Amino acid sequence: MAVKPVKMGVIGCGAISGAYFNAAKTFPVLNIKSVADLDPARAKAAAEANNCQAVSVKELLADPEIGIVLNLTIPKAHLEVALAAIKAGKHVHAEKPLACSRADGKKLIDAAKAKGVLVGSAPDTFMGAGIQTCRKLIDDGWIGKPIGAQAFMLCHGHESWHPDPEFYYKVGGGPMFDMGPYYLTALVTLLGPVKRVTGSTGMSFAERTITSEKKFGTKVEVEVPTHVAGVMDFANGAIGTITTSFDVWAAEVPRIEIFGTEGSLSVPDPNNFGGTPKIQRMGAKGWSELPLTHSYAENSRGIGPADMAAAIAAGRPHRASGELAYHVLDIMHAFHDASDEGRHVELESTCERPAPLPTGLLKGMLD
Ligand SMILES: NC(=O)c1ccc[n+]([C@@H]2O[C@H](COP(=O)([O-])OP(=O)(O)OC[C@H]3O[C@@H](n4cnc5c(N)ncnc54)[C@H](O)[C@@H]3O)[C@@H](O)[C@H]2O)c1
Repeated sequence: MAVKPVKMGVIGCGAISGAYFNAAKTFPVLNIKSVADLDPARAKAAAEANNCQAVSVKELLADPEIGIVLNLTIPKAHLEVALAAIKAGKHVHAEKPLACSRADGKKLIDAAKAKGVLVGSAPDTFMGAGIQTCRKLIDDGWIGKPIGAQAFMLCHGHESWHPDPEFYYKVGGGPMFDMGPYYLTALVTLLGPVKRVTGSTGMSFAERTITSEKKFGTKVEVEVPTHVAGVMDFANGAIGTITTSFDVWAAEVPRIEIFGTEGSLSVPDPNNFGGTPKIQRMGAKGWSELPLTHSYAENSRGIGPADMAAAIAAGRPHRASGELAYHVLDIMHAFHDASDEGRHVELESTCERPAPLPTGLLKGMLD
């Protein structure tokens, strides 16, 4: 029997929202009925472009047909919007990070549990062909037992292209909270949860100058660390390092490499869905490029909430879960705490690795 797709409402129609409207073209289960924004003109434009209706946040939350709210607001609004949606009995999928603080993240997870609704969070790039292929390679033993990992996200910030980049330099922003979720979610997918971390953080520029068109020349006061280096002890025994920075003009380092007892794996950019994994097994004379074993190599942002809708219909856990996002949030805070306090931090949170996607899925399918 065909399951009636659950309808969705989008709150926050800014820069990233287009990716979700695009995903709705791939995943029939991602059925967007209404959109809302603090700025009604943005909601109206998004509704007109995407053949749905513009409403107020209040109207969206009061609509009994809407089962899932996509919370695409800026990080500091994530909690308030998510709690309102949960109170209205809606499942929520949030853009990353899940929330700004651990306390807010916990509040969200607890509220959803009490109400019997699901929480999901970006990123969902770990469900793409690149990371899923690497996961299969590791799980199938191609590099032996994983012993280490390194990850790098180095750039000079987003003020050269984002029309409203201020939030990247305020609480909830910074390179770790902005880009760390892609790298850490990929690492937890590949290696499992982390049990303790340490780290060092720095801020190289107290002020940034916006050079994107709308606000060209506007200064932004930097309130958060913009160069963050962390060390992670994974529960499986592997030791990982990660550096995220908005202070670096150029670098040649890889995105992610995983080292095992029988070889090394070069993992494609976890901010994208596809890419080319490379392997060098012990004794080999160089890297070999590997074909992707999984579907969704093209930009499929929105696959997370699509999976949530499919999971509700199938009665199985959703993959881009609140628990996974909370563990990642905990790791990111722990790097900053470790630096501030000069110590290792044992993590209180943990999570299950999200279930792998099957190989050979047809476009639009998740099971
Ligand atoms: N822009 C990107 O490339 C990108 C990529 C990945 C993830 N994200 C994440 O997506 C989220 C949104 O980023 P963005 O770049 O689209 O930001 P944005 O500033 O372009 O858009 C955010 C929108 O949310 C609206 N909004 C804010 N508070 C609200 C509230 N309380 N109720 C209703 N609407 C509200 C704003 O009016 C705005 O239209 C962030 O969490 C960001 O980390 C952005």
